[in-house]
Amino acid sequence: MTKRIAVIAGDGIGTEVVPEGLRALDAACKRFDIDLEYQHFDFACCDYYLQHGQMMPDDWFDQLKDFDALFYGAVGWPEKVPDHISLWGSILQFRRAFDQYINLRPCKLLPGIKSPLADRTAGEIDFYVVRENTEGEYSSIGGRMYEGTEREIAIQETVMSRAGIDRVLKYAFDLAQSRPRKKLTSATKSNGISITMPYWDERVKAMAEQYADVDVDQYHIDILTANFVMHPDWFDVVVASNLFGDILSDLGPACTGTIAVAPSANINPDGNFPSMFEPVHGSAPDIAGKGIANPIGQIWSGAMMLDHLGHADAGKAILDAIEAVLAEADPKVMTPDIRGQGTTETLGRAITERIAG
Ligand code: NAI
Ligand code: MG
Repeated sequence: MTKRIAVIAGDGIGTEVVPEGLRALDAACKRFDIDLEYQHFDFACCDYYLQHGQMMPDDWFDQLKDFDALFYGAVGWPEKVPDHISLWGSILQFRRAFDQYINLRPCKLLPGIKSPLADRTAGEIDFYVVRENTEGEYSSIGGRMYEGTEREIAIQETVMSRAGIDRVLKYAFDLAQSRPRKKLTSATKSNGISITMPYWDERVKAMAEQYADVDVDQYHIDILTANFVMHPDWFDVVVASNLFGDILSDLGPACTGTIAVAPSANINPDGNFPSMFEPVHGSAPDIAGKGIANPIGQIWSGAMMLDHLGHADAGKAILDAIEAVLAEADPKVMTPDIRGQGTTETLGRAITERIAG
């Protein structure tokens, strides 16, 4: 069955790494006999905004809603368009309108990548951060009163719904259950945030009853961040609310070296709208146009997309190829950020050749 993919390169190095992502996907599809059909879109980037005064056409939702997935590069060019306009007008619209309530980020130390944590080697860090992506601390309920006076106040409410918590927990427990260690860690702060966080903990306990084989623990967010740095080997699947997950999903990949290789998925597990796969990094205006951006974050995002579309073997083949090429560490192939003199294309092609076998 053909899967339809909407491809949006976006800005800056997005336009350089997306072709390498597609090259790798093509090789995996050929090897595993998967049929993907791409359609490219020129909106959701700053040039589109400069021409049209908005980031996307009015009917973007209808244009995209029936795709099986979105494969996104990066958006943003602060010199041309303020970031709050470019990001709110594109990626954040997708996450909300397509109810992508899971933000999934693997934190895996790859061979040949130096962790900023001393003495950590490949294999020692391998976990996922599962972030709730639609409610929690990032709500629009609240407001200001007495603006501009000494009595000025600002209030913003946290929203924790049973349905919202349970659906992210279910995803995280399922993921933990599918992994060899079967371990789930919940990020909480029920000692300080005394209403919503005890509720979160309560829902974790209730969900845990349905997953007897998953080993569950929880940490307050403050010591959890410390443990990411001191004991990253403790973790397997870490589930967190929107705010805590936001922090952990940057800290986790940071512990594994360069953000240039980190992928992410914004998933709607119910499948009623497309999920979106994109690297963690942005458009990197400082190196855009030079052909030296590391394409691994984009290529790995493609592996997550195949995984999501039910082709776990093909996704694994891509990740295996990334690891093999990194382990070889040929300086003529590696991009400058990982101590090489190669280009986006040399690295992309080397990975693609490995996937092809
Ligand atoms: P950035 O991730 O674009 O760049 C940060 C630093 O990492 C830069 O020095 C860059 O050269 C380097 N870097 C990033 N990706 C790399 C790669 N693949 N290979 C080698 N080096 C790489 O973050 P920054 O500079 O804060 O943001 C630039 C623009 O991107 C802004 O407009 C920002 O809003 C946007 N942005 C978009 C995101 C998205 O599309 N999801 C995520 C983060 C930022
Ligand atoms: Mg963040």
